Formats: sequence, C-alpha cells, structure tokens
Amino acid sequence: MRMKLFSVAVMMFSIAYFAEAQELRDISLPVPKTDGGKPLMQTLKERQTSRAYSPKKLPLQLVSDLLWAADGINRANSGKRTAPSTMNWQEIDIYVVLEDGAFLFDAKKNSLKAVSKQDLRKMTGTQDFVPTAPINLVFVADTAKMKGVSSDDQILYAGADVGFISQNVYLFCASEGLATVVRGLIGDKKALADALKLSDGKKIILAQTVGYPAN
Ligand SMILES: Cc1cc2nc3c(=O)[nH]c(=O)nc-3n(C[C@H](O)[C@H](O)[C@H](O)COP(=O)(O)O)c2cc1C
Repeated sequence: MRMKLFSVAVMMFSIAYFAEAQELRDISLPVPKTDGGKPLMQTLKERQTSRAYSPKKLPLQLVSDLLWAADGINRANSGKRTAPSTMNWQEIDIYVVLEDGAFLFDAKKNSLKAVSKQDLRKMTGTQDFVPTAPINLVFVADTAKMKGVSSDDQILYAGADVGFISQNVYLFCASEGLATVVRGLIGDKKALADALKLSDGKKIILAQTVGYPAN
C-alpha cells in the first residue's frame, strides 16, 4: 500500500514537473535592427519619463531592438556592450517581465531565457500602471562578478552601471516614440527575487517600465 502511494506521488510529481518544463519556453529574438532611429540631438530633446501606458504588446522585433539598445553586444570581437560597466564586469542581468512570463535576456545568444510562466508584472512595482504596461525590466546585479571591491562599492557601481543601461532604454524609447520610466519604487524586493528565482548574491537594483504611450 505504502509503495503504491509512493508510486502515485512520484507519478504526480513527474507530470507536474514536465508540464511546467513544457510550458516554459526560451524565446529566440530576431536579429536587432541597429540602424535608423532619430538623430541623437533630437532623441535627447525628446527623452522623458512617462507614467501612462497602453496595454498593447510590443512586437518581438521591437523587444529585440530595445534589449540590444539597453545592453546588447555592439562589438562582436570583444563581446563588449552598448552600456559601459565597471571594470567590464558586465554584471547587470536584465529580467524581462511580460504578461506571458518572466525571462532573462541573454545578450550572447540574443534570446530570452524562460524564468517563470507567471505574470509577475505587478510584483515589479507599486505604481498603478505597472501591472498592465506590457514590459517591466528588472535590473539585477550579480555581485559574484564584482570582484575586489567592498559591498558598499558593489552597490555604488551596480547603481552606476544600471544608470547607463536605463539611459540607453530612455534614449531608445525617445527615438521610437515609446513611453518609459525607470523605477526605484519596486515594492517587496524579496518576494520579487524569489519569483525570479534569484540566487544569493543577485541584487535587484531598479526596474523600468516600457510600452506604447496611453492613447
Ligand atoms: C534612480 C531613479 C529612480 C526613479 N524612481 C522612480 C519611481 O520609482 N517611480 C517613478 O514614477 N519615477 C521614478 N523616477 C523617475 C524620475 O521621477 C524622473 O526621472 C524625474 O521626475 C525627472 O523627469 P524626466 O525623466 O522626465 O526628466 C526615477 C528616476 C531615477 C533616476
């Protein structure tokens, strides 16, 4: 009897595990479009924070372009990125939180690695537009890559490195007529870290909402 119960439990666990695994799919991003856009001075004139979003989803091409602008590889030979990073640590991970699930941007593979099939958007912020905006980026510092500095300096440099990425997102959005806001107001960072399955040493720094402007 005990053996039978054990087998049933193993079977149920396996079904649940494989159902979960099947539903979590990585997404291969289209090659980013790295030409065009508005001239830099025009883009700077239009850079701004917006807090009203349409729920309309962005096409995958635009998501790919956005992530390349944010922190993609712009020099294939060295693997260096569109944003500078302290000592070239490249320690900032970008989590892409969508209605369909949460993903980790992999700049090398130009893909989104599936992290959670849940809609975690509301966990990324406390402001009213956050749960319905199509994209919330979460910038996470991998402190294991930040060698040889104090923990205070790790936070300082992570903040600076996220700032560059965030500004790239602001400029991309200004160029493409998208709305964005970088956010310190995240809410329960511990709960979000758990939902994103962050290991120890991975610290949530800031979030950034992106979408089409409302109306
Ligand atoms: C580090 C940082 C954190 C911010 N956090 C928030 C936030 O949590 N929520 C928000 O609505 N705006 C936030 N902002 C946006 C600022 O309020 C905004 O940049 C400022 O009002 C100036 O407006 P502008 O970006 O249009 O020039 C933040 C900006 C920075 C740089």
